[in-house]
Amino acid sequence: MRNQAFKLTDGVVTIRKLRPSDRDRMAEIANNKKVADNLRDAFPHPYSVADAERFIAMCRKHKPAQVFAIEFEGEYVGNIGLHVQDDVYRKTAELGYFIGEPYWNRGITTRAVNLICEYGFRELDIIKIFSGVFEYNIPSQKVLEKCGFVREAVLKDSVLKNEKIWDEHRYARFKNRHE
Ligand SMILES: CC(C)(COP(=O)(O)OP(=O)(O)OC[C@H]1O[C@@H](n2cnc3c(N)ncnc32)[C@H](O)[C@@H]1OP(=O)(O)O)[C@@H](O)C(=O)NCCC(=O)NCCS
Repeated sequence: MRNQAFKLTDGVVTIRKLRPSDRDRMAEIANNKKVADNLRDAFPHPYSVADAERFIAMCRKHKPAQVFAIEFEGEYVGNIGLHVQDDVYRKTAELGYFIGEPYWNRGITTRAVNLICEYGFRELDIIKIFSGVFEYNIPSQKVLEKCGFVREAVLKDSVLKNEKIWDEHRYARFKNRHE
């Protein structure tokens, strides 16, 4: 993830740097309540082209890059990010992702998560990758389980989303522990 040409692929799904030209499609995909309902409130709803433009510009400035495009059959379909933590948590990274509703349930995110985890453990000097999933987001929990994550904790009543309180399920995948 250190140079312009960065690309990870398994032959079906590719992860690459975000491009300014992803803007319109990103805004279309992200402007969906069913996507926003599963993400933090910092993710705007409704989601405008200007939001996508700002987000892409911010990601492209960040060195090393942390958020990437997911491509399926040569098309931009969503975003995935790996945020390395700091201080005593610096051997851990937080994982986040979304893909557009037309592409759901085809195994695309499972492939993207496997690609980015393998990359992270190989290149980023981290030993743990975690993700926090709202209790009702079963598809995301399934993705993580398919990718070798374990549910290591349920953080009860931790999330206020859409005026309701929810548990957050914390999933983690480890470089060296196998349990
Ligand atoms: C969560 C999300 C990323 C999943 O992406 P995806 O590409 O559809 O995921 P995959 O196809 O790899 O896997 C989804 C799994 O969930 C299962 N699933 C989908 N809906 C389900 C439901 N209502 N109940 C049970 N399982 C369900 C699918 O069958 C599939 O499992 P399988 O392979 O065992 O059949 C996508 O739905 C999304 O972007 N949602 C909105 C944003 C979001 O939730 N981001 C993650 C925040 S933690």
